[in-house]
Amino acid sequence: MSVLIRNGTVVNADRSFNADIYCEDGRIVAVEPGLAAPLGAEQIDASGCLVMPGGIDPHTHMQLPFMGTVASEDFYSGTAAALAGGTTMIIDFVIPSPGERLLTAYHKWRDWAEKSCADYSFHVAVTWWDDSVYEDMGTLVRDWGVNSFKHFMAYKGAIMADDGVLTQSFPRALELGALPTVHAENGELVDYLQKLLLKKGIVGPEGHPQSRPPKVEGEAAQRVIQIAGILGVPIYLVHNSAIESIDAITEARRRGQRVFGECLAQHLLIDESVYFDKDWGRAAAHVMSPPFRPRAHQEALWEALSGGILQTTATDHCCFCGDQKAMGQDNFARIPNGTAGVEDRMAVLWHHGVNMGRLTANEFVALTSSNAAKIFNIYPRKGVIQVGSDADLVIWDPQLTRVISVENQHQQVDFNVFEGMRVSGGPAYTISRGKVVYAQGTLQAQRGAGEYVFRPAFPAFMRAQQEQNRRQPYQAVERGHTGIREWH
Ligand code: URP
Ligand code: ZN
Ligand code: ZN
Ligand code: ZN
Repeated sequence: MSVLIRNGTVVNADRSFNADIYCEDGRIVAVEPGLAAPLGAEQIDASGCLVMPGGIDPHTHMQLPFMGTVASEDFYSGTAAALAGGTTMIIDFVIPSPGERLLTAYHKWRDWAEKSCADYSFHVAVTWWDDSVYEDMGTLVRDWGVNSFKHFMAYKGAIMADDGVLTQSFPRALELGALPTVHAENGELVDYLQKLLLKKGIVGPEGHPQSRPPKVEGEAAQRVIQIAGILGVPIYLVHNSAIESIDAITEARRRGQRVFGECLAQHLLIDESVYFDKDWGRAAAHVMSPPFRPRAHQEALWEALSGGILQTTATDHCCFCGDQKAMGQDNFARIPNGTAGVEDRMAVLWHHGVNMGRLTANEFVALTSSNAAKIFNIYPRKGVIQVGSDADLVIWDPQLTRVISVENQHQQVDFNVFEGMRVSGGPAYTISRGKVVYAQGTLQAQRGAGEYVFRPAFPAFMRAQQEQNRRQPYQAVERGHTGIREWH
């Protein structure tokens, strides 16, 4: 099976250049101008298009059991929708229930993901602590290619990890060469504010952002950054939505601390007003955590992306239909949290980023693919167009326009938070492991064709951190004898 892509402009994170790309058996075999087509190779003319590494969405939740229901998008439909949008890999989350063995949960999720059409990998959440968690973290890193562990500082009474859990888990991750990732919101404050609002009779979706104001995120971001700093552990903060957490990350990086940050396409473009919609269903459809923020926060997120404070973009793709959202009809705290985006992230980010002059095409590649590949240690297998890399590509047509709508999406959910948004620039073709899986509007995704991506431990920055920690000048005082002091 081979494909030759001709006449396109290759766009990597570091530079753009004109070259043809030849792929065979799932890999990129040649990147050179003027390649001749080998016998039997499928040929694609990419004239006028950019050829970029396929998107990596490092934050999705396919078929997640959550808040008393299960996300409507499964690994088949979700990865198919991803491919239709130019994303060729997802990193999803294994979330063990408190008390459940990490390995048990991991194998459950692996079974669910067998039907994926695009490549996938897993972060594993640490939601509780005992010796078995310590042990399973080691097994997951060594035998199963997990190199990141997730911690939820919110969702009290369910999957919340308190400071005690963080303090056990972070050093364990470091010794294994795995990166701790964190959902930063103060779960105690959320719980208090939810009860307070409900007592005041605020039961609708407008209670959601009021119970999770920006400072609730900022406090947790600051706290977890300090905890990680004291422990000497790099961390990755998921779905930053607020100026407060951007400031905390900025300050930490200025001090030399290894803190990475992600933001979601949704938070870049949607503001808090959606929760005050008179239509309960529309307001509830936007309930996700952290919530959408007042306008000033969106511009700060764009600045943090172009300024290098945040390194990755994701979607937190977690779909619940109207009937599922209705579980919180009388109580906003029971509305299942999550919104969709895996199909739209690339186009939305291109349109509002590159077309609006906020990002270069190379920065776009870094933010949608290469940086995630580097942080999660699968670079240069993923995240770059070069000989030897996986043939995960998107042929991007800057002229292509689409009005985003639930009517034309592949995502298995009855709502789209970008409904009615006209975007210019989109995937003409998506190629997954050397196979054309999306071509000019036609999805040819194959159930089960996606492969599990083993992510090795110890990206270079983890080794550097360990070395730095070894030089930490802890002090001991030499004493001649330890006898009880005598007074004369
Ligand atoms: O609302 C969200 N984000 N749902 C998924 C779980 C999480 O917090 O990432
Ligand atoms: Zn989260
Ligand atoms: Zn999430
Ligand atoms: Zn004496």
